[in-house]
Amino acid sequence: MSRNIAQTSFVLLCSYILWRLLRNFLVRSTLSNIPGPPKGSWWKGNFAQLYNNTCWPFHSEILQKYGTLIKTYGFFGDEYLYVSDPRALHHILVKDQVIFAKSRTFLLQAVVCFGEGLLGTEGIKLRIQRKLLNPVFSMRHMRGLLPVLTPVAHQMRDVLKRKVEKGEEDIDVQSCVSRAALEYIGQGGLGYSFDALDESKTNNYSDSLKMVTTFILPLLTYRQMLPYLMWIPRIVRRKFMEWSPFPGFQRIRKVVDTIHMASIQVYMNKKEGLARGDDAIVQQIGKGKDIISILMRANMATDDKTRLPESEVIAQMNTFTIAAHDTATSATCRVFHQLALDPKAQARLRQEILQAYKDNGNEDLDYDTLMSLPYLDGIVRETLRVFPPIPFNLRITNKNVVLPLLWPIKGKDGNEISEVFVKKGTTVVVGIQAANRNKAIWGEDAEIWKPERWLSPLPQSVADAHLPGIYASMMTFLAGGRSCIGFKFAEMEIKLSVSTVLSTFEIAPSPTEEIEWHMRLAQVPTIKGSSDPAPHLPLKVSLVKQ
Ligand code: HEM
Repeated sequence: MSRNIAQTSFVLLCSYILWRLLRNFLVRSTLSNIPGPPKGSWWKGNFAQLYNNTCWPFHSEILQKYGTLIKTYGFFGDEYLYVSDPRALHHILVKDQVIFAKSRTFLLQAVVCFGEGLLGTEGIKLRIQRKLLNPVFSMRHMRGLLPVLTPVAHQMRDVLKRKVEKGEEDIDVQSCVSRAALEYIGQGGLGYSFDALDESKTNNYSDSLKMVTTFILPLLTYRQMLPYLMWIPRIVRRKFMEWSPFPGFQRIRKVVDTIHMASIQVYMNKKEGLARGDDAIVQQIGKGKDIISILMRANMATDDKTRLPESEVIAQMNTFTIAAHDTATSATCRVFHQLALDPKAQARLRQEILQAYKDNGNEDLDYDTLMSLPYLDGIVRETLRVFPPIPFNLRITNKNVVLPLLWPIKGKDGNEISEVFVKKGTTVVVGIQAANRNKAIWGEDAEIWKPERWLSPLPQSVADAHLPGIYASMMTFLAGGRSCIGFKFAEMEIKLSVSTVLSTFEIAPSPTEEIEWHMRLAQVPTIKGSSDPAPHLPLKVSLVKQ
């Protein structure tokens, strides 16, 4: 019996692969005239070149050679359109965002792991959630949130201080930044402390949150099956996961269960606090100013039609933590790495920060002061522009559509192409980093990290390009109805960490280790030449000389 099942599965798999390969010859491509690199492999296309630890040279090479609209290949001859043309990006992410959708497998994976939060919903449900959530992330709320996050920054500073009190040390700054990022989103997002900066404590909830993306990666192939499995009742799917002998399934099931149970517990505590009134809420971590408390109050005040069910509020808690942690860690680490490499920029920034503290009577800076420090702002913007933590993003067309271009390209036949017919089912690679580093937009020095560019007016070409990004004319936080809802939180967190650390410490490159940035779900720093895949950012840290 089991032999028959195995044989049938094998035949079905071979037929599927054969059909996918034959389809390329039988069905006429609408992208045949778009230039691009040859396939790197007959079955993986360019996928392994586009997406591997050190994929940066391949991206630079094809962008330089083929420009802002490139045809690349995915698995079994699937055609991918790699786009960084500003007008095309506007259509993909804003005007025709309903057609250029997230893949079904991506959405279902988010639902299975974290529930129906922003990462897992689409259509009307997404619009309802965004309508309620957008104001929760407003500048007014960020202003109230900064005093909740500041003690976390102090804790991070104290952890570092203990390590260097006897003198200069080589420290893995990534570990400290990552734990602080978890604590920021814990206290500021959930109104909950993971005790992430207390090295003597362990916390199953935070351990599971940290592991979940790592455990998902090896299951990427299996997730393709999710659309075909969702009709099976949840209880049966669950039993299958429980009985499955495959360790990868067991690992993910355990962390997802832990996350789910812990978030319900946090939610219930908040609910109880809200029911007991304002006095009880201010006693809680977050003092009622954290994102989930604000969301719960907004949800209670809204009408029945737009009120989110409890399960969706709980799902947002895990969604925010997952979406915030790796990205903000990546960005903050990148700022520290760049400052270590550029001592002049570091000294100039420290001077600006120390002056701001002095002007404020050596008290913690309030939101408006922190956000308006010009050089700090330039450093953060420039780092997010040149090194976006998520350098590209995928969408899939659910309809045939015409994509217009701002900059026409020359087709393989030598004719000019100013719009492209894109068939239903085409994968589109949204070139975030490609657009952020485009020389026609940012100037000849577009690829160079140069914070000073933000201190004077940007070239007219930036305004003329009309990149649709929601932040500083760049694509780092994307655009449209699925753009990053937490970008103001991220900006505040990075500035808070950088100003706190730089006012106390000097940082320099490690004398023994070289850093190499790897592509994962977000970019991560690793030690060049090391077999250890875990993120590390070893830097020489010492107390600022008075
Ligand atoms: C530097 C840090 C960050 C970067 C670069 C970043 C970037 C992004 C990008 C590119 C997306 C779109 C992803 C996609 O469509 O697949 C996104 C979505 C999202 N981000 Fe961020 N993010 C950052 C920090 C944060 C923070 C701190 C939060 C929460 C407090 C957050 C919450 C979210 C959520 C909930 C989504 C999904 C939005 C939706 O689909 O409607 N992000 N982010």
